[in-house]
Amino acid sequence: MEKVILTKPDDWHLHLRDGEAMKSVVRMSAFQMGRAVIMPNLSPPITNTKQAIKYHNEIVRALPKESRFRPLMVLYLTDKTTKNEIIEASEAQEVHAVKLYPAGATTNSDSGVTNLSSTYPALEQMQKEGVPLLIHGEVTDNDIDVFDREKVFIDRTLTKLVQEFPSLKIVLEHITTKDAVDFVSECEKNIAATITPHHLLANRNHMLVGGIKPHYYCLPVLKRKSPHQEALIAAATSGSPKFFLGTDSAPHEKHQKESSCGCAGVFSAHAAVELYAEAFDGAGKIEKLEGFASFFGADFYGLPRNQEKITLEKTTWRIPESYNFSGSHVVPFFAGEELSWRLSA
Ligand code: NCD
Ligand code: ZN
Repeated sequence: MEKVILTKPDDWHLHLRDGEAMKSVVRMSAFQMGRAVIMPNLSPPITNTKQAIKYHNEIVRALPKESRFRPLMVLYLTDKTTKNEIIEASEAQEVHAVKLYPAGATTNSDSGVTNLSSTYPALEQMQKEGVPLLIHGEVTDNDIDVFDREKVFIDRTLTKLVQEFPSLKIVLEHITTKDAVDFVSECEKNIAATITPHHLLANRNHMLVGGIKPHYYCLPVLKRKSPHQEALIAAATSGSPKFFLGTDSAPHEKHQKESSCGCAGVFSAHAAVELYAEAFDGAGKIEKLEGFASFFGADFYGLPRNQEKITLEKTTWRIPESYNFSGSHVVPFFAGEELSWRLSA
């Protein structure tokens, strides 16, 4: 059987939720990943170090004692985040980044930033301390088409931010367009991006042809195959250290997605590494998977690479139609479909 041995990957963008919901999904990520950057968009959001440490401990307590999985916590940036909050965060070993959600951009982003200049003292301090800013890069203006919101964010907001904070570490999260690939590629090495498995494996046709498929709906929304999906595949498999793994796995209960106003988020933690393997193999670039999945993110965050190894075997298996989730169900990405790579236990 064909096998690929990799250094254990890390997930640089993961939604675990909290309480029972978190308990039902956290072991999937802990099996696949060495570490994960845990998104702070709980309700209410994680806006200070004390809350981040409490959430960290809740995640660790939900894992088996022998688990070596480490959650890397993130603060949710608001108009009110102070310079002192950043100093406190940078001193806590649990906290590794700060997340910028433009207010209203996505799930639980109501407390997000409404006026970027009000965050400048915090950003100044982050630049000084080397704390990465993780960005949900979409504008929220009603008159901007949903498929253009990432590009407009880059043109109107990100370009200026990069000029004003030239040495701030920035990760443009879950990029979806050729515009984002080009922007990040042209920046200095302190600007990087994560790419999800669903944006590599799917485009807007998967979501909209033959009926609306709510389990493909996420934000930023899936774009066209050409040039966008193709540019993401090329970037992920290029070997450039600017692009690394971030699943954006975002579980929601089945009935909340299959609704007249279905929420945004694709759940991929059940088979994250296998899904990426499918995408890389499909591009004839499986040998580029380890850098993307296991090296470049750690290098960017200034953390050691994992020591442990994982094995992927080329064997066909079918993804379940659903998983238990907080007393209900979550429908995973590629539900009921076959994959050709499997992570061995
Ligand atoms: C995420 C969620 O559900 O928390 N949803 C999504 O579509 N990606 C939020 C986010 O990362 O935008
Ligand atoms: Zn996310």
